[in-house]
Amino acid sequence: MADLSLILSPQTPADHPAIEKLDERAFGPGRFARSAYRLREGVEPDYALSFVARVGTLLVGANRMTPIRCGDQPALLLGPLTVDPAFRSGGIGEALVMRSLEAARAAGHALVLLVGDQSYYGRMGFAPALEGKLEFIGPVDPERLLYCELVQGAFEAAQGKVRRAFRPR
Ligand SMILES: CC(C)(COP(=O)(O)OP(=O)(O)OC[C@H]1O[C@@H](n2cnc3c(N)ncnc32)[C@H](O)[C@@H]1OP(=O)(O)O)[C@@H](O)C(=O)NCCC(=O)NCCS
Repeated sequence: MADLSLILSPQTPADHPAIEKLDERAFGPGRFARSAYRLREGVEPDYALSFVARVGTLLVGANRMTPIRCGDQPALLLGPLTVDPAFRSGGIGEALVMRSLEAARAAGHALVLLVGDQSYYGRMGFAPALEGKLEFIGPVDPERLLYCELVQGAFEAAQGKVRRAFRPR
């Protein structure tokens, strides 16, 4: 019988078409107009920190980690995080986030930002960056701009514009 346990593995460019299908279904074409998308535009994700979830050979979830800058500090943008509707509420989303955070910490990263719901990401260590220290690239609900420190004091040190990190594709 086929082994249907969940497997998390680092993303590869070959996963891109399946991930696009998941994202299209979850967010629709409006995803390209989101402020967070602008930070990812033209920047390769850090594949070693971005994971896909598979059940058997089926890709059922994905998370991306993209290098950004917060003022002078390097940071990471988490997302989009997407899980196939048929596989939701089984902990796959949280497992993908925790694996990315663990890998980012091990690689020496200090700060992770995302745009999302505190009611979901709070349990994974994210808090709202409400203090007005960061100026996002476009309109964003301040309550949805969340951060997670991988190194204590990293958020305190971050100040200024949240910008794209330019890395050649
Ligand atoms: C958000 C998402 C990735 C969660 O994936 P998942 O594998 O179901 O996540 P988990 O199993 O870790 O957690 C599921 C729980 O979180 C809750 N949850 C999901 N999205 C939530 C949100 N935006 N706010 C609050 N709670 C949320 C679910 O209701 C569920 O609760 P339950 O366990 O009581 O049923 C998935 O619902 C999804 O792909 N949504 C569409 C895309 C999206 O909104 N992505 C996040 C923004 S980047």
